[in-house]
Amino acid sequence: MKDLVFSGIQPTHELHIGNYIAALKQWAELQHKKCCFFCIVDLHAITVPQDPKKLRANILEAAAVYLAAGIDPTKCSIYIQSEVAEHTELAWILGTIGKVSELERMTQFKDKSKKQTQGVSAGLFTYPILMAADILLYDANQVPVGEDQMQHLELARVIARRFNERFGETFTIPQPLIQKVGARIMSLQDPEKKMSKSDPAESSKILLSDKPEIIRKKIMRAVTDTEGSVHFDPEKKPAVSNLMTLYHHTSGLSLKEIESEFKGKGYGDFKKALAEAVIAELSPIREKIESYRSNSSELERILDEGRDTAKEIAARKMKLVRERVGLGRA
Ligand code: AMP
Ligand code: TRP
Repeated sequence: MKDLVFSGIQPTHELHIGNYIAALKQWAELQHKKCCFFCIVDLHAITVPQDPKKLRANILEAAAVYLAAGIDPTKCSIYIQSEVAEHTELAWILGTIGKVSELERMTQFKDKSKKQTQGVSAGLFTYPILMAADILLYDANQVPVGEDQMQHLELARVIARRFNERFGETFTIPQPLIQKVGARIMSLQDPEKKMSKSDPAESSKILLSDKPEIIRKKIMRAVTDTEGSVHFDPEKKPAVSNLMTLYHHTSGLSLKEIESEFKGKGYGDFKKALAEAVIAELSPIREKIESYRSNSSELERILDEGRDTAKEIAARKMKLVRERVGLGRA
């Protein structure tokens, strides 16, 4: 069986270099070798309050970003989660398989619920069940994500196994695909915190839409460690190790090569080189985002096609799931 890759990003806020390295860049490489489904997970986005007009705009923006990052619609399916209703149907069924005690352990739920001033929605709690449905619906065996999604993926595996044991072999058990270096890109202002889309501090993150002068400023202002050498040691030198991770992914150099390039040099030289490497990687993407954004008929066509392909597989799978569980009529 050919490997099937599934992943998704929430259409909220602007995407940053962490999303790019852990998700989009991996996706663009995988599409040449595997059958890929890349989803814009708008149903996940509404687990915290969203402005409806902004959400719709963000969905199309996310599609433009996927394309600009090199995701090729002739090689994979790009579509919107809410347009394939089977995701929600399967999520309901899997919600009867996953346990409250399992959901209570999710660290993302604990973190996000602290930030909700209007009360915590039940949807935020069951978020990982919908994510399991996204993946299992397509029998995806490979799921490229950042490290923060590992716990959710582990739960998807548990749910798949439990369903299979109870109702017979139905779902493929998915595996995470995580970058060896760069699975967790940290904030430029605080290397103890992950770089986050929703961080209000602009200087904490490099956005895919940042212009070169902004990228230079953010990198020159990024915090470093006290000891002055460019050396990779995430424990003792988390800030510089994080910057080296960015350089590794944008220059193509190995960590060892980076260390020898900057041997005897200070952080100033390193940051200048890093800024230019990031600009060279991100500028073409920023320019393409603008051109895809203005070609809405092309975006619509790509999203229609992606939806139709996804729907066909999802409908077939749901028929089997209903049969296995004993829902409805034969
Ligand atoms: P989200 O921003 O939550 O929609 O995440 C989209 C993808 O980016 C997921 O695969 C996340 O695991 C990944 N991601 C988000 N933030 C980071 C980060 N700081 N470092 C690495 N990956 C990240
Ligand atoms: N929860 C993921 C995130 O916030 C997004 C997501 C939803 C996802 N469904 C998925 C990722 C399925 C991989 C596979 O990053």
